[in-house]
Amino acid sequence: MTGKQDYNYLKEQILRITGVDLNAYKEAQMKRRLDTLINKRGLSGYEEYCNLIKTDKEVKEEFLGYMTINVSEFYRNPDQWEYLDKTVIPELIGKFGKNLKIWSAACSTGDEPYSLVMALSRHIPLNSINIYATDIDNQILAQAKNGIYAEKSVAGVPKDFIDKYFEKIGTSYKIKDEIKKRVTFQQANLLDKNYPKDCHMIVCRNVLIYFTEEAKNDVFMRFNESLAHHGVLFIGSTEQIVNYRSMNYVRKNSFFYERAD
Ligand SMILES: C[S@@+](CC[C@H](N)C(=O)[O-])C[C@H]1O[C@@H](n2cnc3c(N)ncnc32)[C@H](O)[C@@H]1O
Repeated sequence: MTGKQDYNYLKEQILRITGVDLNAYKEAQMKRRLDTLINKRGLSGYEEYCNLIKTDKEVKEEFLGYMTINVSEFYRNPDQWEYLDKTVIPELIGKFGKNLKIWSAACSTGDEPYSLVMALSRHIPLNSINIYATDIDNQILAQAKNGIYAEKSVAGVPKDFIDKYFEKIGTSYKIKDEIKKRVTFQQANLLDKNYPKDCHMIVCRNVLIYFTEEAKNDVFMRFNESLAHHGVLFIGSTEQIVNYRSMNYVRKNSFFYERAD
């Protein structure tokens, strides 16, 4: 649709208007997605799009929703959740006790933080569980707080939890308040510097795949500083940390890394 120079213009404008630095995202993929969006709206190019984003709140929200994929599901990659249940959670409790500080970073529709509450409930009384969950996209956070899911989203939830913690409404599944109450949702941009401190576990899955290597490594380093000593980082299937030693991590397996000191 438009050339490199125009994309630079778009990046500058988007940063100014939304605070999102598109330099941190892989360019080819991001450009393709935005071109599709601009075409869909029948706009002539980036300049017209930027003018619209400035004045129309709905277009701005649409941009934030569209820039990455929001797809999520409960207990995504079940083997990793099995390892979390059998190994990581018991070790965390052994190290830090049952009052754990856990951050679900880029939580999308809430499937991940709600799965964390359920997984932890096998080890810790429900009313002692608190998950801090963030995402850049306010619309998606509204959906997360609403807590209503299609059948395919909850397909990986253990049967006993489906019966206990979901109410079936037509073909949808509504998560019960006793789980919802354990999660605090907040809008936050991973590219901003204000990360929470002393986390016992950070869960950040399937968002850093959209980031450039440099931005991804920067986030991994800042997560390290946000973790308590020997706290754990849980990442997505395609997001291995290659140079984990230089970032002060010990590798537990491809998806779990512990802060070294
Ligand atoms: C594919 S979803 C991942 C959801 C969940 N973590 C999982 O693995 O199922 C990616 C999420 O990252 C969010 N996101 C993208 N860029 C972000 C940023 N800079 N800061 C915070 N969240 C961001 C998107 O809004 C989206 O909800």
